[in-house]
Parts: sequence; structure tokens; C-alpha cells
Amino acid sequence: MPAHKHAVSVENKVILLTGAFGLIGREVGRSLLEHGARVIMADVNQAALPGVREELAAQFPENAFLAVPLDITNEASIADCMAAAVARFGRVDVLINNAAIDAKFDKHHQDAVNASRFEQYPIELLQKSIEVNLTGTVRITQAACRQMLAQGSGNIINVASTYSLVAPNQGLYDYGDGEPIRYKPVDYIATKSFIPNFTRYIATFYAKEGIRCNAIVPHGIYNDHEEKFLRNFSKYSPLGRMCDRSELNGPFVFLASDASSYMTGSVMVVDGGWTAW
Ligand SMILES: NC(=O)c1ccc[n+]([C@@H]2O[C@H](COP(=O)([O-])OP(=O)(O)OC[C@H]3O[C@@H](n4cnc5c(N)ncnc54)[C@H](O)[C@@H]3O)[C@@H](O)[C@H]2O)c1
Repeated sequence: MPAHKHAVSVENKVILLTGAFGLIGREVGRSLLEHGARVIMADVNQAALPGVREELAAQFPENAFLAVPLDITNEASIADCMAAAVARFGRVDVLINNAAIDAKFDKHHQDAVNASRFEQYPIELLQKSIEVNLTGTVRITQAACRQMLAQGSGNIINVASTYSLVAPNQGLYDYGDGEPIRYKPVDYIATKSFIPNFTRYIATFYAKEGIRCNAIVPHGIYNDHEEKFLRNFSKYSPLGRMCDRSELNGPFVFLASDASSYMTGSVMVVDGGWTAW
């Protein structure tokens, strides 16, 4: 077997990345392109599409990427996205299930978060998250698996969270400054908890049919958070700091590459030690 067979390389791999216009998506998509992959950047946020397209066109050849609208809750939109990917690149080697609704507490998002206590949490927000984070992830994975079965190979990377593994430490959001405490809501925890076992389900279901499936567990990506949040975060984090978005690039490249060929059904934790104590 030649040594390069299991190289940490995504050169010419065709990668469909959902939620590609968000914080992690933009960074990981750019990094995969830098590493020579062909990337379909897909997201429901149509307003962001022209900007993403322009940004990528300034850095990469037009034939290396596709920026397309995709709503993972909508079968027709999924079919259109898969058709566009296959028409352009002929196949889909890797699906990265990154799209999700996530209540965030950085300066850009905190007013949009319903951070009420559990007993007051609006059930319709839970249902909305289930529709996207759970059912939507299943829908797009089904479509990708049909394509991957036809190709005879495929690789799926699900983006989980530390809140797929442990409960949120609500103390993280308590700044002790007299402001009402905000809580990480249950919709995120419920829908992200599904990801590790869904990963094992897909991995074992398709193990003999050439499709592997692993999950990655990011935690606390820095995005201009307030000082008081950073203080709390460093107290609870073994590494004592938030994750720079670029620190996810290596793990994604590794899982998307053939260097991880003996990995399936695994949950790769990239959390600065958050779940280690
Ligand atoms: N940011 C973090 O600290 C962190 C930590 C752990 C896990 N994660 C996970 O990482 C992933 C990406 O998170 P992010 O921080 O980049 O969030 P983000 O909100 O910046 O990006 C998510 C993207 O998903 C898109 N999206 C939402 N609904 C969609 C739908 N129906 N169809 C297609 N796209 C849709 C949004 O438009 C958005 O661009 C999520 O799965 C999240 O749970 C993030």
C-alpha cells in the first residue's frame, strides 16, 4: 500500500458544507478550499450569498467552489443543491452537516436569543430547532447517502457540540453584575444531543457500503464576546480561553481526508478540555 494513500489531504475532494455562511462555515469552507478541495458552500441565508461568493472569488478560482442557497428543512431545496453540486463537480465525496440554529451569547446575537428559564421556554422554539437541527440534518444526510451509495463511497462529518455530551454550565452566563441571568436554552441541548448517536447510526448502517460518518465537537468559538463572558469562560475552561475559529480547520481537514479512513462512528472532541472535568 503506498504511503500517500492515507495522506492528510483533501485535494480535489468534493465537499458539501451546510450552514456555510455562518461563523464556522465561512472559516472551514475557506480552509478546505485553501487545501485544494472543491467546496459547495450552501446556506439558507440568501442575503449573505453574494458577499460570500465575492469573498471566495477574490481568493480562489471560480471552478473550485459553488455558493448556493440551501434550506435543509426543504426537500426541493435539498434536491436542487445536490443536483447543482453533481452537475458542477460530478460527485459529492464529503457532506459536512454544519447548519444549525444555535442561541449565541456574543455581542452580535444576544438580543436575538430567548434565554428564558427552562420552565418558561417556548415549545415552538424547540419545535423549530428540531425541524432544522434534527429533521433537517436527517433530510440532507438521506440525500447525500443516496448520492454516495450511487458513487460507492462517501464521508459524512456531523457538527455536534459539547452540549451534545454534557449539560451547559449555566454559571457561564451568570455575570454576577445584577443583570438578569440568561440561560442556554433547552432546544439546542435537545437537538445537539441527537448528533453523536445519529453519527453512530449512519456509521454502522453504511459501514460495509463505503460511507463513513464521524462527528466533531467544537466549543466556544470566539466571536467578539464581552469581557465578562470571557472571564467566566476562562474560569471554566481547562485551556483558559475560547477557541479561535481557525483551530477547527485541522480537525475538519483530517476527518474529510483519507488520513481518517479507519475512523467511523467516532466523536472527535475539540473543546479545549471543557468536557474533561
Ligand atoms: N460557535 C460555537 O461556539 C459552536 C460551538 C459548538 C458547536 N457549534 C456548532 O457549529 C455549527 C455552526 O455554528 P456557527 O457557530 O457557525 O453558527 P452560525 O449561526 O454562525 O451558522 C449557522 C449557519 O446555519 C445556517 N442555517 C440555519 N438554518 C439553516 C437551514 N434550515 N438550512 C441551511 N442552513 C441553515 C445559518 O443561516 C447560518 O449561516 C452548528 O452546528 C453549531 O451547533 C458551534
